[in-house]
Amino acid sequence: MTESTQRFCDQVQPQILDVHPYIPGKPVSELQRELGLNYISKLASNENPLGISHKVLMAVQKALKDTSRYPDGSAFELKIILAKLLDVTTSQIAIGNGSNELLELVARVFAGKGDEIIYSQYAFAVYPISAQVVGATGIEVPAVDWGHDLNAMLAAITPKTKLIYIANPNNPTGTRFNQSQWESFISQVPKHVIVVLDEAYLEYAKSFDVDGDYPDGCDYLKQYPNLLVSRTFSKVYGLAALRIGYLLGCDEIIEYINKLSNPFNVNSLAQVAACTALLDTSFLAKSISLNEQGMRQLTEGLSALNISYIPSSGNFVCIYLGSDALEVNQKLLEEGVIVRPLVNYKLPQFLRVSIGTQVENQHFIDALKLVLNK
Ligand SMILES: Cc1ncc(COP(=O)(O)O)c(C=O)c1O
Repeated sequence: MTESTQRFCDQVQPQILDVHPYIPGKPVSELQRELGLNYISKLASNENPLGISHKVLMAVQKALKDTSRYPDGSAFELKIILAKLLDVTTSQIAIGNGSNELLELVARVFAGKGDEIIYSQYAFAVYPISAQVVGATGIEVPAVDWGHDLNAMLAAITPKTKLIYIANPNNPTGTRFNQSQWESFISQVPKHVIVVLDEAYLEYAKSFDVDGDYPDGCDYLKQYPNLLVSRTFSKVYGLAALRIGYLLGCDEIIEYINKLSNPFNVNSLAQVAACTALLDTSFLAKSISLNEQGMRQLTEGLSALNISYIPSSGNFVCIYLGSDALEVNQKLLEEGVIVRPLVNYKLPQFLRVSIGTQVENQHFIDALKLVLNK
């Protein structure tokens, strides 16, 4: 938009003008249109390369005939299943249009102009956006070794701090912290400061947790009423397009969140899909195992090409390409491989690659080899 076409900027809330919108991965159809390629590997959005589980597909197809009805605004069945699986009550669960919606709602409930929201350098882009949209000041705490510096985050708390966003593991860097680091952190956060622990990649992190020291946010909800845990069905459950996630916390906070969420924010197909996906443990196990194999394949392939990367506990890995990263990204696109440049995360020297199927991972490694003339 040019300045001459901006007719309403004086009326817009000032904080909105500065928001840099979230940049999604390039869709396959867009690259197909641009380059006319017929084989494309999309490794840009940390999606499940296995797609949707067959059981979920059947359940969604069956539910399609009821789409003339509004969905259950309380997501009753899904909450019952989650409550049982996670040992919480249904009043401790809010369901959102993706966990993204819930992350933003927390900021709307707790922060406004003059307040501060803390998050780490290189943390998920939605945290600074959520702070900006509500007019709060985002406090970005420098990372250590590409991950959250929990002690520095504690030190950044001021009387104005309302909220802290933390992802474990973090996206895009894939770094994670352990149980003792987490316990030391959460025990020192003042009780009136809300902590959102974003566990979008929990299932993958647990599968890589050889030392058994990955902290599961659910285990801390009873002790810390100021803790909220967000999770998603977009990753290991393979439901990214349906937009569904959940937030766990104390009854009181969940009630505030529910007050703000739109009526019928989660459609009926997403609810049916999530209920079925939670119970389809064999698909879950298959997805996790594919990710473990893929992570091995990718990191071994990178090491063979002498390319360094940030060790990751998620379903993606950040690879270091220095000043060539953007050029490499362009050339990979021409080879039919979509990965994620990280310029908006101020990591222009890295590309983030999601773990795909065995064939997709190989496509990426072969394309990278070709592009780098190795
Ligand atoms: C750390 C993190 N949190 C939350 C989300 C949002 O997931 P969704 O809105 O699809 O549930 C993502 C998606 O990429 C993520 O990486």
